This record gives sequence, structure tokens and C-alpha cells, in this order.
Amino acid sequence: MAKPYIFITRKLPEELTAPLRKDFDIHMWESENTAVPRELLEEEAMKADGLLTMLTEKVDDNLLKQAPNLKIVANLAVGYDNIDLESARSHNVMVTNTPDVLTDTTADLTFTLLLTTARRIVEAAEYVKQGNWQHWSPFLLAGSDVHHKKIGIVGMGRIGEAVARRALGFDMNVSYYNRSRKIEVEQKYGIQYEKWDDLIASSDYIVCLVPLTDSTKHLFNESAFRKMKSSAVFVNASRGATMNEEHLYEALKAGEIRGAGLDVFEDEPIPSDHPLLTLNQVVCLPHIGSASLETREAMIKLSLSNLESFLLGKGAVTPVS
Ligand code: DGY
Repeated sequence: MAKPYIFITRKLPEELTAPLRKDFDIHMWESENTAVPRELLEEEAMKADGLLTMLTEKVDDNLLKQAPNLKIVANLAVGYDNIDLESARSHNVMVTNTPDVLTDTTADLTFTLLLTTARRIVEAAEYVKQGNWQHWSPFLLAGSDVHHKKIGIVGMGRIGEAVARRALGFDMNVSYYNRSRKIEVEQKYGIQYEKWDDLIASSDYIVCLVPLTDSTKHLFNESAFRKMKSSAVFVNASRGATMNEEHLYEALKAGEIRGAGLDVFEDEPIPSDHPLLTLNQVVCLPHIGSASLETREAMIKLSLSNLESFLLGKGAVTPVS
């Protein structure tokens, strides 16, 4: 009998996929850095029993209906807004993600972005590199304090909780907003739940960690930025489409908020002439929330385990549907 066919949409390290080759016929897109062309993905999906996808692949109804043998899509991310879950359910396709293994790494990056933006680290490093450092002066590249300030975490999932722990270590006052209250988290860490309007109006640092859904799309818009303090710093490490980038740019330009640290954008990668890149008070990163060597390896292993376990009839390890 032919082995089940798995298509992986990026070139992943051979030593990680090798153990599965005895049970599966594994094919990979040839490049680690560029996304698989849509046409090829569609061709491969037609043959595949399992797909290992990145967040760059749109697994929509159009793809799923052309994949008669497909049983599982293992997404190499905790977020799965690139996948049409309803369509996957209707085609009887299991969807898995990579929770837990990336929590601390993503929280580290989120907090790094907060500190970097607050203390103007990118500007300061560039200042030295470009030979502009002539004198020490009292307010040279002075940023804002982080310790003893208020952080408002929007989205209290696993990563939100891990960011709260880091914030407490910096003596911050931690509040959060979430679709549903997390009483046990409030009690465990001594943090407070606040209503949306109150949280965004009173926080010094507003950190977006909500998953992208129909109800969180452009949650951070003109009206939200207007409510924030003029000294507030906005940090986004979830998905770019949770914010309206044009509104954010206008708010920063008008001084309605002080700065922004962004790891994600609505259309990635952003072009080098993106308006947000023209502002010194904005730090932009290329979606590297979970990008440590250890975590990326753990994410790949978890995705492969999901494929292996599910296709061998033992159930998915971390199903989302
Ligand atoms: C995720 O896991 O959703 C991240 O954004 C990708 O690293």
C-alpha cells in the first residue's frame, strides 16, 4: 500500500523530517525563505493526505475542495487565521496549531518590543552607529520608564499571561481586557480585569495579543487610539489586521499616542516605503515573535507529531477544531 503523502510548504531541516520517512511519503517546497507558489500548493493539495503549512499559506475553501484525500492541515503557528476552519470542518479536515511551545519565546519578544520602543533603543543604536554621538547630555534620547507604569494587555491567553509575568517582574501595574474574564489568572498574579474603554484610556503600554477573528479585525482603530493617553505606547505581537495601520499612523503623527512597537502587519512583508517606517517613534520587526532556534525547532517537531499521530489513527496532539 502507498504511504500517506505529506506536503510541507517550506524547506525544513532534513534531520527533523527524516524519522517520519519510513511511514510517509514526504515532499517539501524547495525554499526555506520564499512561500510556495499557489499553483504548486493546489497541485500538491490534490495529492496530499496531510499538509504542513505556514501562516503565509491561505488554506481556504477553494484549496480544500480540491483536496479529496486531505485529512489534516498542521499549521506551523499558534494563530490559524490563515485557515478557513469552517470549510475544513465541512471537508472533514483536522486542523492543528503549535500552542505552548512558543509561549515564552513570543512573550520575550513582546516585552523586548515594549522595552525597545519605550527606551528608544533602535534610535539610540543608530545614533551611535552613524557617528552622531558627540556629547553626553541630560535628555539625549531620553525615553519613558517601564517600571511602575501601567500595562494593559488585550488578550489574556497563554502569551498574555506570560507577558503579565514579565511585566510583574518589572514592577508594572498589570491590567487586562479579554472576551471572557479569567478569574483564576487574576487571583494567581494579582492582576485586574478592566473594561475595554477604561483599559485603553488608562494604560501607559497597551499590548495587543488577541487572535485575529471577525470581531478583532481593526479593533485598534481611530476611535481606540483617540482614547489612549498621548504618552501611551502601543505594542502589537498578534496579527497586523487587529489594527488599522492608517489610523495608527495618523494617531502617531498627530501625537495622540507616543510610540508603537510592531511585530506584525496586515500585509506582510511591508514595503520599505510603508508610512509607519518613516516615524522614529515606531519600531517595526518582521514577524519574529516565536523566532528562536529552539522554539522554531519545537514548533516543527510538534507540527510533525500532529501529522504523524493523526495519520496513523492516534488522534491529533494539538487540534484546534
Ligand atoms: C504564531 O505562531 O501565530 C506566530 O505569529 C508565528 O510565529
